Amino acid sequence: ENAALLKAIIDNAIDGIITIDGRGIVETINPSACKLFLYAPEEVIGNNISMLMPTPYKENHDHYIGRYQQTREAHIIGIGREVTGLRKDGTMFPFRLAVSEVQFAERKIFTGFIHDLSREKEAEEQLRDYA
Ligand code: HEM
Repeated sequence: ENAALLKAIIDNAIDGIITIDGRGIVETINPSACKLFLYAPEEVIGNNISMLMPTPYKENHDHYIGRYQQTREAHIIGIGREVTGLRKDGTMFPFRLAVSEVQFAERKIFTGFIHDLSREKEAEEQLRDYA
């Protein structure tokens, strides 16, 4: 069945996948995203996505979403951005964020794809130290 296949794909994806509603509340989080942020799904679902980011993004993220909904002007949707994630243990990590807007069952949700860049950044820094 289609829904079961989709769930298997998302559950086994290498990248983290998180969906939020129009107010930034997390609706789903896949195992890869849980592993990256060190949270269990039930600790994140129902809470604002801003819990997964450091200051000043944490304080401003609702406004970013609201501004997009008012202006339809995308700053990340369909473009992507390198951003910083905040783990449960307080440490941070860089990742490539891709966001898309999805029309689903008469409402709009946002999906975020999270591609961890920790390894690449570490290698980059080591190379810089040699120079
Ligand atoms: C917008 C940061 C995660 C959905 C933004 C903007 C920033 C940002 C800085 C505004 C960009 C600008 O105005 O130039 C972050 C950080 C994240 C994060 C640091 C780390 C966890 C997510 C996730 C989703 C998401 C996982 C979706 C599931 C959105 C939406 C917008 C937005 C819908 C408004 C549309 C747009 O600007 O294109 N975010 N974000 N964000 N973010 Fe996030």
